[in-house]
Amino acid sequence: MSRATAQAPANIAFVKYWGARDLERALPFNPSISMTLANCVSRSTVEVLPEGEADQVLLGGDSGELSLAPASFADRVRHHLDTLRAETGTKGGFRVATKNSFPTGAGIASSASGFAALTLAVTTALGLEFSEAELSVLARRSGSGSAARSMVGGYVELPTGSCGSDPEQDDGSLSFSIQLAGADHWDLRDVVAIVESGPKKISSLEGHRRSLTSPYYKTRQELLSQRLQIVRQSIAERSFSALGPVVEEEAIDLHLIAMSSRPPVFYWNPATIALLSTVRDLRDEGLPAYATMDAGANVHVICEPEYEPEIARRLMAVRGVRRIIRDRVGPGPQLAVEPLF
Ligand code: DP6
Repeated sequence: MSRATAQAPANIAFVKYWGARDLERALPFNPSISMTLANCVSRSTVEVLPEGEADQVLLGGDSGELSLAPASFADRVRHHLDTLRAETGTKGGFRVATKNSFPTGAGIASSASGFAALTLAVTTALGLEFSEAELSVLARRSGSGSAARSMVGGYVELPTGSCGSDPEQDDGSLSFSIQLAGADHWDLRDVVAIVESGPKKISSLEGHRRSLTSPYYKTRQELLSQRLQIVRQSIAERSFSALGPVVEEEAIDLHLIAMSSRPPVFYWNPATIALLSTVRDLRDEGLPAYATMDAGANVHVICEPEYEPEIARRLMAVRGVRRIIRDRVGPGPQLAVEPLF
């Protein structure tokens, strides 16, 4: 039976995807820009099963053991396998195992890296060759827009790919990730302060859905074109002083929209506020550090390498922080990795 293993990285967005014109296909209203991470990765091994056999969805454990995946995770994987079958004209089932390099339940979103790895492993196991852009579109079809960005290394932009107002024309084939700069271009670090574990109470999907009810949604959209331009330019020029304030402002705006959605979505907890205040203190002391948060309470602090150890030390001392994960900008997906079975 044909088998393949792929590894794909997580990413942290500097300009967030928040709100979709098509949630099922994760077609965003606004472009997003992220940094691909080096250490937080997912690995996926896929075996093509004979026609008529049902999909098997497994999780890889720390000592190499495989266990059945929980139903909610298995359902999302099967749904994506259905999409990939439809897109590739395949009928058979798949045996799939997935493993994250970061502890499950540590609060790092694994859908981006997980769906990117799964997409690449399935297409490779089927012996199909797709371009990076096509793989990015296929990964986005999982419903996780950030998975499209995990197909590419370094600094990455996911455009809306919108083409006019005709929904028939808007098939999403133009919303694929583009590399703005490779990982070697600029060594930035992400110090992640974990303050919650387990799945978030309100999914990103529900957050995207509610976002349009916020009175501030439109205001953020109006600010975005300038914000995107500053982020693109500061990456090109490796200007941390230009990048940092925009990254933090953007994350606050995402949560402002979440909190003012109807019904409201609160992702923060008291430790999130304490961390944001510590990051401001660090800046007052002359350490360039800027915070960003995804749809959760954990705080990612973006910094340059020389400040990373001190920033990690200071974040660890904040009440409510359970652990610190230190990561950096990294490459895109890889195929030459050890299989899970
Ligand atoms: C706040 O729909 O990609 O992280 O599937 O849960 O990863 P997941 O979410 P997705 O939305 C991402 C929302 C975000 C911002 C971002 O990464 O752009």
